[in-house]
Amino acid sequence: MTRKSVDDRLIFFHAREITSLPPMHTTPEFPNLLVIQHPLVQHKLSILRNGETPQKIFKELVDEIAMLMAYEATSGLTLESVAVQTPLEETQGWRVSGKKLTLVPILRAGLGMVEGVLRLVPSARVGHIGLYRDHDTLQPVDYYFKVPGDAAERDFFLLDPMLATGGSAVSAVASLKRAGATRIRFLCLVAAPEGVRRLLQEHADVQIFCAALDRELNAVGYILPGLGDAGDRLFGTR
Ligand code: PRP
Ligand code: URA
Repeated sequence: MTRKSVDDRLIFFHAREITSLPPMHTTPEFPNLLVIQHPLVQHKLSILRNGETPQKIFKELVDEIAMLMAYEATSGLTLESVAVQTPLEETQGWRVSGKKLTLVPILRAGLGMVEGVLRLVPSARVGHIGLYRDHDTLQPVDYYFKVPGDAAERDFFLLDPMLATGGSAVSAVASLKRAGATRIRFLCLVAAPEGVRRLLQEHADVQIFCAALDRELNAVGYILPGLGDAGDRLFGTR
């Protein structure tokens, strides 16, 4: 498979049959984006997309995909050496350096990703950002913000299954930066090119991890092909 055909498929993912892919892939247009191609992630995402998937399974899949994505997204954390006393002798080991990683779900739908990431990083702190997208203007409306006080010293994982226009993500990143955060990664399940582009323009330092880069937004700001309204499908509100 040529480099060009891989890049084409990342954007128009359903146009060709998938055979094999590298574990993570980026596109030249979006240096801020890593698409996690792990077979389990792609398998579970396709069940998630299915409009017939019931709420209980949908919730479980969001949780499982978040856990698998966290494995990749934590690969850039820095380590420091530490002495370990085995039953036989002392040796050198490693631990993640610095203050505890902080997860920040964007309410509501981001909540569905928290437990999956915590299963891999149980000592992580959890902040919250309350935002919803106004249905008519598609602009984010802020209603809650709480993260640990020493934000400048922490790594943040901002969690939200959907990156559509990018308005919510841009606003959430700006709030984290106002609180002092400098190291922010954004984990989403499905991203639209419009949202990735907007985040690149406004916060180029934020690395995005996603399971799929979809084709486009529809006239009312939903991702195509997407998976519908993530919050409603997670919490059964429609
Ligand atoms: C959804 C989603 C994101 C946002 C993405 O949330 O979970 O937060 O829309 O859209 P954007 O990129 O265009 O800003 P929604 O506003 O529907 O709120 P909810 O999670 O409470 O359902
Ligand atoms: N929010 C969602 O939940 N789904 C979309 O497709 C876009 C925004």
